[in-house]
Amino acid sequence: MIILGIESSCDETALAIFDSKTGMLGHVVNSQHTIHSKYGGIVPELASRDHIKKLVPLLDDLLKNNKINLNQINLIAFTNGPGLLGPLLTGAAFAKSLAWSLNIKSIEIDHLEAHIFSAMISEKNLKPPFVSLLVSGGHTILSLIEKNSNCRVLGKTLDDSAGEVFDKVARHLGLSYPGGPEISREAEKIQKSSYKFPRPMIKSKDYNFSFSGLKTSVIQTINNIKLNKNSIADISHDFESSIIDVLITKTIKASNELGVDNIVITGGVSANKKLRNRFQNEAKLKNIFFPDIEFSTDNGAMIAYLGWIKSKSHFSNNLEINPDSISRFF
Ligand SMILES: Nc1ncnc2c1ncn2[C@@H]1O[C@H](COP(=O)(O)OP(=O)(O)OP(=O)(O)O)[C@@H](O)[C@H]1O
Ligand SMILES: [Mg+2]
Repeated sequence: MIILGIESSCDETALAIFDSKTGMLGHVVNSQHTIHSKYGGIVPELASRDHIKKLVPLLDDLLKNNKINLNQINLIAFTNGPGLLGPLLTGAAFAKSLAWSLNIKSIEIDHLEAHIFSAMISEKNLKPPFVSLLVSGGHTILSLIEKNSNCRVLGKTLDDSAGEVFDKVARHLGLSYPGGPEISREAEKIQKSSYKFPRPMIKSKDYNFSFSGLKTSVIQTINNIKLNKNSIADISHDFESSIIDVLITKTIKASNELGVDNIVITGGVSANKKLRNRFQNEAKLKNIFFPDIEFSTDNGAMIAYLGWIKSKSHFSNNLEINPDSISRFF
């Protein structure tokens, strides 16, 4: 079966083709970062307009580069939420119209569920149950994915997500969007930081997170000094370590307390190299899984892949277009 995946929940137009026999054939991602960077945040209408502009040419490129004909596609999987409604509507309308014109089925996919299962694209032997840490631009959720793939939320951020805080602190440091990779690059320039920012809720008995106090503490520090190359690296280093300390501590605690040794870390922040290395080193007795780096941030491959998994039990073949701004999975 050949599945086309379409992702348009925010500021990435992303498509992929997955072959259930041979695996991921190819994927394309167009990021709108340059469009939104001057506004300091995503402008939903501009995002929707750019998705409309890019969907057809990106699909053409994807098909051409992978020598696939439109008529070979058997199923179209598309993001139905959560996300910005305008961008979701463009992707959903495109997916359903294309499925209708090709007389094939379509399937609605939850963006967060797709992030979580993205680790299975390359880890063929990975199966639930596992402890899942989803750390993305909009979410930080620790959950148990049970044997039947149902999700039990253990804890989540009480305020900002980890990715959001990376982006906001980066902006105050004069770094560009998305802030995560920028902060990481700065942090790598030094071995040790002279700062020691708070590690919020690291010792709390629950599995929740809170990152807004850390954000305020770092921004206050930035406002009280004259930034230069050295101080940007110095601040970035301990800020990044603070987030990683909290994420690793809580995730290992959940794994120990539940007696579940498989741990899966997904979402944009899971692209962070230090987070990956430290998880592997500090949880040596666990089995740690990440998606390929290119599938950590938003992509169409995770949508196509989950579309295939879900297609075994469920299709949506009606033409009703009904995206959701909130997750139906969590
Ligand atoms: N190397 C990195 N280190 C830390 N953070 C990173 C890195 N690469 C990307 N990020 C962060 O990942 C986030 C984007 O992730 P993702 O694309 O999964 O988010 P989203 O789709 O906007 O949110 P959600 O999936 O919650 O709806 C941004 O906040 C970005 O700064
Ligand atoms: Mg995402």
